[in-house]
Amino acid sequence: MEFSKLATSIAPSPTLALNEKAKALQREGAAVINLGIGEPGNFAPMGAILGGIAGIQDGNVKYGATGGTPALKEAIIKYTAKHYQREISANNILISNGAKQSLFNILFALVSEGDEVLLFAPYWVSYPEMIRITRGTTRVVEPGEGFQPSMDDVKKQVSPRTRVIILNNPNNPSGIIYREEFVAELVSFCEEHSICLIMDDIYHQLVFRNTPLPTGYTYTPRSVEESWLIISNGVSKTYGMTGFRIGWVVANSELISMMGKIQSQMTSCPHIVSQAAAVGALTGSQHVTTNLRQTIQNTRDLVLRDLETIPGVRTTVPEGAFYILPDFRAYDQDSQRLAAFLLEKVYVVTVPGAAFGMEGHLRISIAGPQYEVMEGLGRIRWALNSKGSDSIYLGDQKVVRSW
Ligand SMILES: Cc1ncc(COP(=O)(O)O)c(C=O)c1O
Repeated sequence: MEFSKLATSIAPSPTLALNEKAKALQREGAAVINLGIGEPGNFAPMGAILGGIAGIQDGNVKYGATGGTPALKEAIIKYTAKHYQREISANNILISNGAKQSLFNILFALVSEGDEVLLFAPYWVSYPEMIRITRGTTRVVEPGEGFQPSMDDVKKQVSPRTRVIILNNPNNPSGIIYREEFVAELVSFCEEHSICLIMDDIYHQLVFRNTPLPTGYTYTPRSVEESWLIISNGVSKTYGMTGFRIGWVVANSELISMMGKIQSQMTSCPHIVSQAAAVGALTGSQHVTTNLRQTIQNTRDLVLRDLETIPGVRTTVPEGAFYILPDFRAYDQDSQRLAAFLLEKVYVVTVPGAAFGMEGHLRISIAGPQYEVMEGLGRIRWALNSKGSDSIYLGDQKVVRSW
């Protein structure tokens, strides 16, 4: 069968592919530790469970409004007022089947062939493929110290074809929070030059600090209707509700209506039962998010201490999200080879930094249970220390060093 040029040019999501590989190894009996997937292990919020049950109970589950149910839009209006200090209306919201679809809707609505979309390395692995699918061209701003970019470097990458800039704060895969002065300058720059700035805020509540992360709107006096800011968010990470597949966009009503047209042809509407569950998550007790934040911060502190004991590994302290992106170049410059080595020898899944535009690094997810994360790091330390003990137990399987 002959496939389209587009289909053959797309790389599969490496994180999902690694997840499949880990599951296959597990089925064969290997004691795999998966530090690859960005998914908290929490139980769904009770509000979401009850909301979802109520949403399905009378059996009347039909198509809904293309842009989302009035109930979830109402909850998002309140969420935006609380977290973004912006009054918006239902016309400023488009709800989708996950933030991935939200981002696709934005790019499909804005990007024409050859238009440029600016990313900051390290970037989320899906952005370049999304840009390719929507026929745009990716341009990358390389980071400085601590993965922090500079406005000078942004300006060097901007051209008359730059339509969109994407900023994911806190960042997947590094967990860093961008410097406030940088975000402020970037927002002003985009407002001034009429460039759409997508703020991918999917981790914005998962920050290890006592004060909330300032949002993009902090740095612009414009209303949502007048601003070039586009907010992408969802319940996947903040509430650990990855399987519910609910994301949303807040933006000016013209863009929302354009995206609605696209979504109506793609998926008709977001999942009705999941939307009912998302209402439950947004309006119910928020302790799941508070617990998640605290648990991940505790794990992060342990992980940082542990990584310090692996000679040559350099880390940048994550201040949010649930990833860390240590520099393993002291062991191998090729992150794909190193990740394959760790999976083969000690059954630990990590994601090669090359997928995020950061060769020589490995992304380690710290979202899972603490004992698993620490066990995974222990195995990595053992695998990299060729002068260490000559055997290790992986579950009940004894592995003897051959390297
Ligand atoms: C930076 C970033 N944006 C968006 C998403 C997509 O989230 P969702 O599961 O809602 O599609 C992810 C998921 O990994 C992510 O890491």
